[in-house]
Amino acid sequence: MNVLVTGGAGFIGSHTVDALLKAGHRVRIFDALCKPVHLKGVPVYLSPDAELVVGDIRDKDALTRALQGMDAVYHFAAYQDYLPDFSTFFSVNAAGTALIYELIVERKLPIQKVVVASSQAVAGEGLYRDADGVLFTPDIRPEERLARGQWGILDEAGRPAESLPTPETVANPQNQYGLSKLSQEKIALSLGRRYRIPSVALRYSIVQGPRQSFYNAYSGACRIFCLHYYFGRAPTLYEDGLQIRDYVNIDDVVRANLLVMQDSRADYRAFNVGGGRAYTVKEFAEIVRSVLGRDIPPAGPGLYRFGDTRHILSDISALRSLGWEPAKTPADSVRAYRDYLYEQTDINDIMAYAEKKMRELNVVRKAQA
Ligand SMILES: NC(=O)c1ccc[n+]([C@@H]2O[C@H](COP(=O)([O-])OP(=O)(O)OC[C@H]3O[C@@H](n4cnc5c(N)ncnc54)[C@H](O)[C@@H]3O)[C@@H](O)[C@H]2O)c1
Repeated sequence: MNVLVTGGAGFIGSHTVDALLKAGHRVRIFDALCKPVHLKGVPVYLSPDAELVVGDIRDKDALTRALQGMDAVYHFAAYQDYLPDFSTFFSVNAAGTALIYELIVERKLPIQKVVVASSQAVAGEGLYRDADGVLFTPDIRPEERLARGQWGILDEAGRPAESLPTPETVANPQNQYGLSKLSQEKIALSLGRRYRIPSVALRYSIVQGPRQSFYNAYSGACRIFCLHYYFGRAPTLYEDGLQIRDYVNIDDVVRANLLVMQDSRADYRAFNVGGGRAYTVKEFAEIVRSVLGRDIPPAGPGLYRFGDTRHILSDISALRSLGWEPAKTPADSVRAYRDYLYEQTDINDIMAYAEKKMRELNVVRKAQA
C-alpha cells in the first residue's frame, strides 16, 4: 500500500514509518517539523526510504497534494503542550483531522483506512468507584485541596474513592489537549462511518522509547527522570509519588498501529493502547534509578502541578480481544531510552532547556501543609 503518515517525523510516527517500510509498504511522511520538537531540523533517525513532504496539516493545498495516490493514512500530527493557546489545540487537532475527511470526500479519494492518534487524556481522571460501590467519573481536583496536600479523589459525600481501569466508554477530558483529542476521535469515527471510510482511533497511554523529543515539555517522566539521573541529580516526584500511571512501550504501540490497519474488526472504534499494569510514579522513578545505575533517591517536597491526573490506568481488554498484548515493560523502555540518550552529543543544554520551560509556564506549585 501507499501510506501517508502525518507527523511521521515525530516519535510514534517515525517508528511506525520504519515498521511500514519493513512490511513492504511505500511511505510518504507529511510533517511540519515543528519546534520545539524538532529544534535541530530534520531528525537524523528519519528513514531515507520514506518520502518527506514538509507541510502543515491545516494547509489545504499542501494536504491535498500529500493525499494524492495514497491508500491509507496514519494521522499522528498534533499540537501537544501546556500552553493556554486553546484555539491552537482545536485548529490543529480537530480541524486538521476534519480537513483529512473533507478532502477524502470532496476529491473522492480512494482511501481505504484512516488511523488517528487519540490519547488517554480523553479519559480525564478516569473511572472511580465510591464507598457505596457506585461508579463515577470525577472532574479535575480542586486547587484548594491540592494546596493543602490532599491528593486523593473523594466521592460526593467526601469519602475516599477507588480508581479503576478505565474503558473506552469513559470520555471526560479535563484540559484543552484532551478536549481536542476527543473532538478528533468523534470527527474520525462519525465522518468515517457516515462516508464509509474505515477509521480507527487509538487512545495511547504514556508511550515510551527512543526518539521522544528532548525539547518537548509533553515528553514526560521518562525523559525528565532519565536526564536527572544521567546528570547525577535527584528527580522530583510531585504530590506523594503514589500517583498511578500507565506506561506503554513504543514497540507495542507500533504493533497496535499495524494491527488495526489490517483488521476490519477495528473499524469505526476507539481503542485504549496501554501497558495493562499500574505503576506509581515512585516505582517508575525507582526503575529509572536502577537502569541508570545511580544511588540517589528522588526528591519529594510536596510540589504539585495543578491539572495533573491523580491516577489513570486504561482498560485494554478491547484491543486484547483483537489479539494484541503489550510485551514490553517500563524497564525495557527506560533501557532503550538510556541507550538513545547516551548516543546524543548535545545533551548539556537539554536539561537546562527543559527546566527553564517548566518554570516559565508556572505549572509547578507547592502545597502549604
Ligand atoms: N507520546 C505519547 O505518549 C502520546 C500519548 C498519547 C497520544 N499521543 C498522540 O500520538 C501522536 C504522536 O505523538 P508523538 O509523541 O509522536 O509526538 P511528536 O511531537 O514526537 O510528533 C508529532 C509530529 O507532528 C508534527 N506536527 C505537529 N503539528 C503539526 C502540524 N500542524 N502539521 C504537520 N505536522 C505537525 C511534529 O512536527 C512532529 O513531528 C500525537 O497525535 C499525540 O497527540 C502521544
